[in-house]
Parts: sequence; C-alpha cells; structure tokens
Amino acid sequence: MPDPQLVLAARVQAALSAAFGPSYADADPVIRPSSFADLQANVALPLAKKLGRKPRDVADEIVAHLDTADVVADVQVSGPGFINLTLSDDWIAAAAQRALDDERLDVPLVDKPQKVVVEYSSPNVAKEMHVGHLRTTIVGDALARILGFLGHEVIRDNHVGDWGTPFGMLIEHLLDLGEDAAARGDSSVSDLTEFYQAARRKFDSDEAFADRSRRRVVALQAGDAETLRLWNVLVDVSKRYFNAVYGQLGVTLSDADIRGESFYNDLLEPTVRELEEKGIAVVSEGALCAFPPGFTGREGEPLPVIIRKSDGGYNYSTTDLATIRYRVDTEHVDRMIYVVGTTQALHFQMVFAVARMAGWLNDDVRAEHAQIGNVLGTDGKLLRTRAGGTVKLSELLDEAVERAGAVFDEIQHDQPYDDATRAAIVRDVAMGAVKYADLSVARDSEYVFDLDRMISFHGKTGPYLQYAVARIRSIFRKGGLTPEQASGPIVLGHPAERALALELLGFGAVVQQAGETTEPHRLATYIYAVADAYTTFHENCPVLKAPDEETKASRLALCAATLRTLVTGLDLLGVPTPERM
Ligand code: ARG
Repeated sequence: MPDPQLVLAARVQAALSAAFGPSYADADPVIRPSSFADLQANVALPLAKKLGRKPRDVADEIVAHLDTADVVADVQVSGPGFINLTLSDDWIAAAAQRALDDERLDVPLVDKPQKVVVEYSSPNVAKEMHVGHLRTTIVGDALARILGFLGHEVIRDNHVGDWGTPFGMLIEHLLDLGEDAAARGDSSVSDLTEFYQAARRKFDSDEAFADRSRRRVVALQAGDAETLRLWNVLVDVSKRYFNAVYGQLGVTLSDADIRGESFYNDLLEPTVRELEEKGIAVVSEGALCAFPPGFTGREGEPLPVIIRKSDGGYNYSTTDLATIRYRVDTEHVDRMIYVVGTTQALHFQMVFAVARMAGWLNDDVRAEHAQIGNVLGTDGKLLRTRAGGTVKLSELLDEAVERAGAVFDEIQHDQPYDDATRAAIVRDVAMGAVKYADLSVARDSEYVFDLDRMISFHGKTGPYLQYAVARIRSIFRKGGLTPEQASGPIVLGHPAERALALELLGFGAVVQQAGETTEPHRLATYIYAVADAYTTFHENCPVLKAPDEETKASRLALCAATLRTLVTGLDLLGVPTPERM
C-alpha cells in the first residue's frame, strides 16, 4: 500500500539529487503533516543553512525539479520555505481502490523474511499469574501476530519459570497433601498462591520439611524419575491454569509454544563450558562470573553476571545465556524479542552483552528487550487486591466480563439477543476492552488498570472500535449485500470521503513500523484514527441513501475498505470484532 508520506519522500529525494547532486539522494526530506495541505516537505530549511543560501530559493529549486504530477494536485512554497503538497483525489482514490481489491489490503510482505522468536507471557509454574504477565501476554501476542502478517517466520515462545530450587519444597508439599488432591482439582493445589505460600510457610518453620525439600532439589537436578514425575504433576496443574487464562483472553499461545527454563537444563553445562573456554567466565569470590564491559556499580567496580554460584548452582542468567546460544546455534533465528517487564532491563542488557562477547549475538542476530511498564491501580500504586495481595488474573478477567455485561445492556442493539449470543458478545467486548486499553499505551509506560474507563463505548476504547465495526457490518446487512460485493469504483467527492480514504492508506506503513519498533500502540492509535475518520464520513455522507448509484457504489466500497482495515488491524492486536452488537 503506498503510504503517501513514503511516496512523496522518495519523490522529494529524487528532486534533491537532481537539483543538488547525488550526494543528496538520501537526505531526509522532512515530510510532515501540514495544516495548509496534506503534507509538507521542510528540507529546504536545513539544506539552505548547509548550502549558505536562502531557504525560499532552495525550496523553489527543489520544486522546479519535483516530478509529482501523477500524485500531487498542488505544490506551493510558503513561509520561510515550506513545500506544501496536496495529493490529487484521483491518486488517493486509485490507491484506496488497490487496497480494496487486494486481499492483504495492498500491504506488501517483507522482502527478507526473518526467523523471529517472540518470547512472551512466561509466567511461573506453581505461582499465580499476575497483571504484569497479563500485559506481556497481550503485547507479545500482538507482536507475534503483526510480525507474522508482515511475512516473518514467528516462533512463539512461552519461557515459563518451571525450574529451580523452589520445586523441592513444592514437590514435598504436594506429597504431603496427597497427589490425588491435584487430580481432584482440590483448591489446596489448584489455588496456586495458596499452594505456594503454604509450602513456603512449612519450609520456613519446619526443619525436617526443609531438609526433605533440599534433598528433593538434588534429586530433581539429578533427573530422578519419580521426582520428575511429581514435578510434571505440578507443571500440569499450572499449565491448565495458564491455558484457562489464555483461552479467556483469546491469545494464540498453546502448550506447543511452552519452552520453559527446564528445557535448557541440560544445556547449562556446555554453555558455561563455552564461556569458560572463551575466557569470558572467570572465578571471582568463589563464583563463576562474566564481567561485560560498561557495567559498573556505584563505586565504579565492574558488575558481574553470575554464571555459577559458589555452591555450584546455576542462575536465572545462566538459563538465559543457554537459551540465546540454543536459539542461535540450533534454531538459527535472526531476531529474538523478549516481552518482559522493565524491571528486568538491567538483567537483559547484561545477558545480551555477555552473549555478544561470546559471539552469539552480533549485527546479524539481534536480541531486544521489549520493555513492559508496570500496571497500576486507580490509586496510582502497583495494582493489588484490597487486602494488599496479588490480583488474580482470572478473577480480574471475570470482573471485566461482568462489568462489560452491564455496559452492553445499556447500548442500542441491532436486535434482541438470546443469552448465549449475548454472553459471547459480552466476552468479546470485555477482552477487547482490556486488550485495547493495554495496547493503546506505549508498552514501556506505566498504565492504570481502570475497568470503568476501558469498558466504555465512548472514547479511545476497544468497545468503541468494536461498535464502529458492527455499525459498518449492519450497513451491508441493511443494503442486502456483503462487504466483498462492494467493489467500487471509489470516487472521491466530499472532503470526509477524501479524509477517510487518505487515512486508510497509512495502514501498511503503520503495521511495518509497529513490527520494526515492537510498538503495537502505533497500530492501536492508527486504528482509532481510522474509526474517527469513518465517524465523520458516516455523519456527512449517506451511504444507502446516497444521491446517485455511482456515489452509493463508491461509498459502499469505502465502507468495505474501512471495515477490512479495522478488522485486520484489530485482529493484529488480538481484539475480536463481533458480527453484531
Ligand atoms: N518467568 C519470569 C517472570 O515471571 C519471566 C521470564 C522472562 N524471560 C526470560 N527469558 N528471562 O518474571
């Protein structure tokens, strides 16, 4: 899809090179939205300074070399040397028509598809998923969808915390409760917070239990069959819980995407050996450490990444290093995206630095930490229950559904719904609300989890966008045709038609940027702008009652293109769009 900004940037660059020589071919043409035209190119100002000439003269010279007759209807130099560019209606209409006619909305697949790991969600076994995991799940799922749509080979990777010393006490506690408690789904096991805390309490107060637990860790690490079987029972209980939450949210993660910390257990030793052989891991105060350059503590002392503790145990960082090595050596990935909280920023910076020292990461293999900001309650503090505990994700989502139901019953519906249909729509509204609220904020900023604000049919919300989609669908139902049957041709008359068509042309560039920068909020913001342009169009341009058949065909085609842009965009964000509302 030709994004006007990109098309005009290329044309201005060609003019620069024609006017001032090929060395200017890559100069930034400084294209910006303009209030006097569609866009303006502001490159004349910095260029004039460089050339020691008057900006207006430079602007005139660029315009003299500008070849845009097919794209632009009007070019004006204004002010100190802004070049105002007004796109031609025919060009916009033709571009919108191409998007409509193409099943990918004219969004090209990437030239060089990459193998990309998107690591997200990554909750811990035998622990409650918290709101932080909600956010990494939602953002990660959107990124996986976006990168896949662009044509990359995406590996979804749920790096669950399923290994480590706590499993000794957890297994012993499971034995004390009796395995059948797990099989029955007894809450003493299935309530993960309760289960974990009870084990912890015993561990801290009962010496014999603590001893058993420590022995159990050793047996687990030695690969004792019975211990591994018990460990698996615990993993399964948690998986069932994770899957329930994923199902509720409608995210694309399945069991096949789980590659927990335990998967890398056997790779820890060879990883550490390689780091030692390369002289990267050295013994310091009894522990095996790496000191990546540029990381220092308060006193300027080099900061270690502890690879093996003095007691011989491995660390969280060791697993992450083994993971990178595996992804590079065995999976041959080009890019790995870690969708994890900002609080782990230093950890990843240091791990990536060590991986670069080892040659696993380099200019061809990228690792990025897509940082996720904290989720706050309406009081501006970290989201907690009233009693101060961790908020349970499943309960939070249940509450969203309940509130969505109340709000849904207040809006005007296409028709009365039976209970099952109503429940399905309400679920979509609730999840759409939670997901869109999360995705419309820059992923690394904090955001306030406020159900009342997110579940509203007004404002920048998921339900508002879902409603816009349902409204367009109902136009087609009333008109007695499917959106696929609306083939145009698109002809632009009213300014609201032109503004909508122009907005639609931005889709491809936005999706591409969202994937490149791992920032789905760019897409979320764009989708809202499309819905906004549609609303203005809808208020000003009757569709089914258009003045003549040509106008009606064109407006239906604009509706169809808008519908597909909204549905595709929302689907890339993981936001469902009910047929009717
Ligand atoms: N399980 C961790 C947590 O809940 C997140 C794992 C992040 N991924 C990683 N490769 N370290 O905080």
